[in-house]
Amino acid sequence: MSLPKACIFDLDGVIVDTVPAHYIAWKAIADELDIPFNEENNEQLKGVSRTESMRRILAMGGMEKSDAEITTFTDRKNAIYVDIISKMTRDDILPGVLDFLEMLKANNIAVAVGSSSKNTPTILKAVGLDQAFATIVDGNQVTHSKPDPEVFLKGADRMGFAPTECVVLEDAISGVEAALNGNFKCIGVGEPDVLGKAHKVVPNLKNVDIEIFSDL
Ligand code: BG6
Ligand code: MG
Repeated sequence: MSLPKACIFDLDGVIVDTVPAHYIAWKAIADELDIPFNEENNEQLKGVSRTESMRRILAMGGMEKSDAEITTFTDRKNAIYVDIISKMTRDDILPGVLDFLEMLKANNIAVAVGSSSKNTPTILKAVGLDQAFATIVDGNQVTHSKPDPEVFLKGADRMGFAPTECVVLEDAISGVEAALNGNFKCIGVGEPDVLGKAHKVVPNLKNVDIEIFSDL
């Protein structure tokens, strides 16, 4: 089995349990606009930037808004979201993540974060993982949202590895596509029905050992 040189982790829904908080905040905005919005619709927003998420919600309602109005909505969404995540602690790290990070370290596999979220630094600090990664690329540092591979390519480049030497861990369709578009191997974390394009899919990182890298 050949081991990767590095793993690049998505943040929301892979390292931390922020998916419900994003959903609650977007639901409040959609309700305000009378746009029907449920958890299935929310699946389409996972991994994509804040502005693109707002555009997708408007499209679901067949609406158009100016850039200034979009900013007003996204600012309001973020205020609701930040209020929820500001209460996060180490307990909000998803099951198996800490052991998985330890296992990678023991096998000399570097770790990075590749997230669309501009709140990445706040979240990693809140859960005590701000010093745990070789590099962190977040939504403040990229121009193109997933499924563009920019965020992962930047992470690999900063660590000095080729995409083919890195494995991406993702819970979002857009993120799996971003990994594949960048020529990375990808482990989906979630439902096989949703993440079927990934090279492998696990329900979560609980009890995931080094064997995950075989036949990737
Ligand atoms: C991604 C989330 O990680 O970050 C998306 O999956 C979110 O749901 C995106 O829209 C941007 O996040 P933020 O924190 O910058 O609004
Ligand atoms: Mg995610």
